[in-house]
Amino acid sequence: MSGLLAGKRLLVTGVITDASIAFSVAKLAQENGAQVVLTGYGRLSLVERIAKRLPEPAPVIELDVTNPEQLAGLGDKVREHVDGLDGVVHSIGFAPQSCLGGGFLDASWEDVATALHVSTYSYKSLAVAALPLMSPGGAVVGLTFDATQAWPVYDWMGVAKAGLESASRYLALHLGKQGIRSNLVSAGPLRTMAAKSIPGFEQFEDAWSERAPLGWNLTDQEPAARACLALLSDWFPATTGEIVHVDGGYHAIGA
Ligand SMILES: NC(=O)c1ccc[n+]([C@@H]2O[C@H](COP(=O)([O-])OP(=O)(O)OC[C@H]3O[C@@H](n4cnc5c(N)ncnc54)[C@H](O)[C@@H]3O)[C@@H](O)[C@H]2O)c1
Repeated sequence: MSGLLAGKRLLVTGVITDASIAFSVAKLAQENGAQVVLTGYGRLSLVERIAKRLPEPAPVIELDVTNPEQLAGLGDKVREHVDGLDGVVHSIGFAPQSCLGGGFLDASWEDVATALHVSTYSYKSLAVAALPLMSPGGAVVGLTFDATQAWPVYDWMGVAKAGLESASRYLALHLGKQGIRSNLVSAGPLRTMAAKSIPGFEQFEDAWSERAPLGWNLTDQEPAARACLALLSDWFPATTGEIVHVDGGYHAIGA
């Protein structure tokens, strides 16, 4: 098998539709020689149906990333399909409606806690659950949305992403000794299910269309997926705690 990820065994979370960033990652990874195991949350039969649309139908393991029993059992479930992991993709985010769309001042701690548990703490939880299957050279990759500034409607999800960006650096610190890297891809706005749940998401779409120096395609997940593949590959062997922007250059340009 040839390709950027030839022979690599990957665990990919976060597929729910074929517009999911994780779906593009899984598809491209298979096309580039990787063996892919998916995890699915909630509507498992839907994830299984989507998994069949990949070039190679991929097995799906149930995983609610906030569920300690499922996290504890993840390693054994993965071993039913592959004998180890070279890479793990965290493509998971969720915040209750009160946390998004301008309600920053009113969201309750319970709702904010849910957003942080699913979107931030889970990055560490997933990595630790997968760690026994990983060896030096392995990589963890997650998806963020630029958390260096406050966005009009992103609210507590922005706080969760700021935490994720920090958590990735701490994971880099704590997994470095084992030769395992942790990096994030900071993607521009893409029309996925998660994006549709953000009231006012079109504000991002308009801003990107106007300002991204390279332009921006709201329905093309492949650029973000390609960056994930690069970070999972052997071509960033000395890069960890990094955030690679895949946003048409938006983050680099002032208003
Ligand atoms: N779409 C965008 O504009 C955009 C931009 C930058 C970053 N991101 C990030 O990309 C990642 C993937 O999102 P997407 O845009 O592909 O949307 P998506 O809706 O396709 O994927 C989100 C995934 O999170 C999963 N999930 C939610 N709660 C979970 C839980 N408790 N346990 C396990 N999985 C759970 C869902 O099942 C879903 O598969 C997220 O971290 C998101 O914040 C998205």
